[in-house]
Amino acid sequence: MSSMAGKVVLITGAGSGLGQSHAALLSEYGANIIVQDINGEGAAKTAEMVAANGMKAHVMIGDVRDSDGFADLAKEAINALGPVDVLVNNAGISSRGRMFEEIDDDIMAEMFDINVKGAYVATRAVLASMKERKAGRIINTSSVFGMAGTTQGSHYCGAKAALIGLTKAWAKEFAPWNILVNAVAPGFIPTPMTNRPGKDELRKARIASVPLGHEGVPDDISHAVAYFASEGSKYVTGQVLSPNGGVVI
Ligand SMILES: NC(=O)c1ccc[n+]([C@@H]2O[C@H](COP(=O)([O-])OP(=O)(O)OC[C@H]3O[C@@H](n4cnc5c(N)ncnc54)[C@H](O)[C@@H]3O)[C@@H](O)[C@H]2O)c1
Repeated sequence: MSSMAGKVVLITGAGSGLGQSHAALLSEYGANIIVQDINGEGAAKTAEMVAANGMKAHVMIGDVRDSDGFADLAKEAINALGPVDVLVNNAGISSRGRMFEEIDDDIMAEMFDINVKGAYVATRAVLASMKERKAGRIINTSSVFGMAGTTQGSHYCGAKAALIGLTKAWAKEFAPWNILVNAVAPGFIPTPMTNRPGKDELRKARIASVPLGHEGVPDDISHAVAYFASEGSKYVTGQVLSPNGGVVI
C-alpha cells in the first residue's frame, strides 16, 4: 500500500473503535493522520499509535455537528500536516436499540446530526482544497443496518441509509474534480459502541445470523477503508463495500 506514503488523512471519530483502527492501519501504510474526535483521551491514544508507526498525528478535538468550530480546527490541522487527501467520515453513535415510540425529536436530531450533518460539516472543510487540487477521496461510514434495516433503532438505520444516498450523489457531483466518494458498511464488529455490558444475548443472536459464523474485527473494516484511500481504487466511486461475514449479501 505504498500509495499512502505521505498522504494526509482526516478521520472523524478516530478516538475509539473503527476510527482508531483506521488511523493505525493507514499510518502503518505511511499516512499522516488528523485524529478528530469529541473525546480527547481516546484521540490522544490514537495519536500515540500513529506516532508509534513513525507518522505524524494532529489531534483535533471537537464536535462534528459544530460547523464553524470544525472549520477553524480543520484549518489549524491543515496548517500543521498539509491539505487533506483522504477524509473518512466515521464519527457515529449507537442506536441504543431504541424502539419507534422512544425516538423523540431530540433523539432523532442527534442521530442525523452526528451521522449525516457531521459528514457534510467535515466534507465542507476539505472539499474546496480537493477541488483545487483535482484529487481527493471521501469515505463515508454506513452500516449493514443502513442496507437491510433491523427490528429496533430505525433512526440509526435511516441515518446510515442516508449516508449511502449521499455517497452516490457526491460521487456523481464531485467526479469532474477527480474526487472519489465511497462508503463502507460494516457488519458486526465489537467496539466500545457495540460491545456494551448486558448485550451478551443480543450478541450471541447476531453471531448466529452471520454465515461466516463469527463477528469481524475493526481491521476488517480498516482494510476496506485503505482500499478506497489507495491508488488501486482510482476507478471506483459511488460504491458501498460491506465487510459483514455474509450477513447482508
Ligand atoms: N462497530 C460496529 O459493529 C459498526 C457497524 C456498522 C457501522 N458502524 C459505524 O462505524 C463508526 C464507528 O463506530 P465504532 O463502532 O468504532 O464506535 P465507537 O463508539 O467506538 O467510536 C465512535 C467514535 O465517534 C466519536 N464521536 C461520537 N460523536 C461524535 C461527535 N459528535 N463529534 C465527534 N466525534 C464523535 C466517539 O467519541 C467515538 O470515539 C460509526 O459511524 C458506527 O455507526 C459500526
